[in-house]
Amino acid sequence: MAVWNLGSINADMVYAVPRLPVAGETVAATGLARYLGGKGANMSVAAARAAAHVRHIGAVGADGRWAVERLLEYGVDTRHIDTVDAPTGHAIVAVDAHGENQIIILPGANRAIPGDLIARALTEASPGDILLTQNETNGQAEAAALARRMGLSVVHAAAPFDADAVRALLPLTDLLVLNAVEAGQLRAASGQGPTDLGLRDVIVTRGADGATWWHDGTATEFAARKVTPVDTTGAGDTFTGYVVAGLDRGLPIAQAIAQAMIAASIMVTRPGTADVIPDLRDVQAVMGV
Ligand code: RIB
Repeated sequence: MAVWNLGSINADMVYAVPRLPVAGETVAATGLARYLGGKGANMSVAAARAAAHVRHIGAVGADGRWAVERLLEYGVDTRHIDTVDAPTGHAIVAVDAHGENQIIILPGANRAIPGDLIARALTEASPGDILLTQNETNGQAEAAALARRMGLSVVHAAAPFDADAVRALLPLTDLLVLNAVEAGQLRAASGQGPTDLGLRDVIVTRGADGATWWHDGTATEFAARKVTPVDTTGAGDTFTGYVVAGLDRGLPIAQAIAQAMIAASIMVTRPGTADVIPDLRDVQAVMGV
């Protein structure tokens, strides 16, 4: 089995700041580091570190070969990442002393993924594989429609929240993953909560307050492990990547979520994004396995 991830790839410029700026305020950073990021790339790396076979579908500009090489180094199949005539996506990330962040993205190549690349990549997929999407690329609905016709299951992470994208994806989605902010945005945009969506499986994550998995309307709660966060960036992506990898490896979803909760809890104790996502051994060590 394999995970096909139609995903964004960013250069994350991460600024350490004493506090996040308010509108009109200038704040001096105390440090700057560059990481591989993008919600899609983070999910691919997380799923690969959780022992799934991950095929990333995406695009970079001519300035983005380093990102593709790094994904490859991290065990992700990069044959379906094109170089297009647009700058590689990037993100300006500010992280405060409590690990909270603010992120601005420039989508660039992530929104210029050729439709025929997606269709060509998915011809190699098999029934039972998983298509993973989020909202930082173009082509999610087309990819999901094709994947469903081919017998793949579709997992969509509604991040960053985009009401139109979610509306288009809902009829094509098997599992929807949202954080609490996105769940609030969905309710504001559509009046719908997790149990009103007509989906079999929905997960809402709430950071330190745990997560809820709804299956056919029945809720199961997962507690978060207590840690001191230094950087919450990419923790949600790590969670989603681990859930998808667990499903791909044939784990019951509750077990996949339990592993994902641990992976996300380790992730928030590390500064950085894709480069520092924990692997399965780190997770199993915490679980005492
Ligand atoms: O979710 C974190 C990610 O959001 C960062 O890596 C950044 O690139 C943005 O896509």
